[in-house]
Amino acid sequence: MEEKLKAVDMVIEIRDARMPMASRNPLLNQLASGKEKLIILSKSDMADPVATKKWIEYLNKDKVKAIALDIIHDNSSGKKVVKEALKLMEPKRQIQRNKGINPRAIRAMACGIPNVGKSTMINHIAKRKSAKVEDKPGVTRSLTWIHADEQLDLLDTPGVLWPKFDDDKMAAILAAYGSINDDILDKKMVAMDAIHIIQDLYPNHLEELFDCENVNPNGMLKAICEKRNLKKEKDELDVKRAAELFLNELRKGKLGKLSLEHVEENSEEVHE
Ligand code: G4P
Repeated sequence: MEEKLKAVDMVIEIRDARMPMASRNPLLNQLASGKEKLIILSKSDMADPVATKKWIEYLNKDKVKAIALDIIHDNSSGKKVVKEALKLMEPKRQIQRNKGINPRAIRAMACGIPNVGKSTMINHIAKRKSAKVEDKPGVTRSLTWIHADEQLDLLDTPGVLWPKFDDDKMAAILAAYGSINDDILDKKMVAMDAIHIIQDLYPNHLEELFDCENVNPNGMLKAICEKRNLKKEKDELDVKRAAELFLNELRKGKLGKLSLEHVEENSEEVHE
């Protein structure tokens, strides 16, 4: 990526609107230093609209434009990306025109961690059907140039997650949304961490959904068993199934429009 960045005009980074910090690539600001950057907050249809608005305000900076998109339901999402890319690059394109050069199509690198919606976005811009080989997180593909639009050439990069997490909360959020391969995780722990974060950010939300009061995350899983009648033999509560069901519904946005990360005073985004 570092090598190929030299050949692009700008970067389009796709992040999940429900976790704009956990789903970023922390090295990108450094690697793409000085280049224009368009941040797409994807899956905005499932995110908390108030939190998303604050993230947009927070992320918009000089040379950085952030927009929220519901990529799958909004038919104009591809057009919006091209329009914003052109707007960001306009000052440089104008300089070229002033010199009598007709600007060529913008060359942009599309980056994003696995499962964030990058392929869906590229398919929308290029108006093509899904060309995805494998949609399990962690599958690597090579870098490919796509003539996505008359005005935009995209360099598709493999969805990569950085290998080490210093921040347990970010790791918990990524796991909650399924960005870390599920097969290697204890789903009950993942669900309990997510419940804890939601209880903190949205007091009473889960309690109302699952008819309970004053419960810790383990108690919430038990309440889910009761509410959804998840029981094993002899009426024993099936907490493991409750954890799986909870995570499935969270990932599909069925628990309401929630964002597990909100802008905080200590949110750290460095634009160079
Ligand atoms: P990736 O290339 O970054 O790995 O992600 P991809 O486009 O494959 O998208 C991952 C999943 O997220 C897909 O669902 C896709 O439909 C969904 N998705 C992408 N953008 C949005 C969005 O803005 N809103 C919502 N609600 N979903 C979005 P999937 O269930 O894995 O696949 P599929 O069955 O929908 O094809």
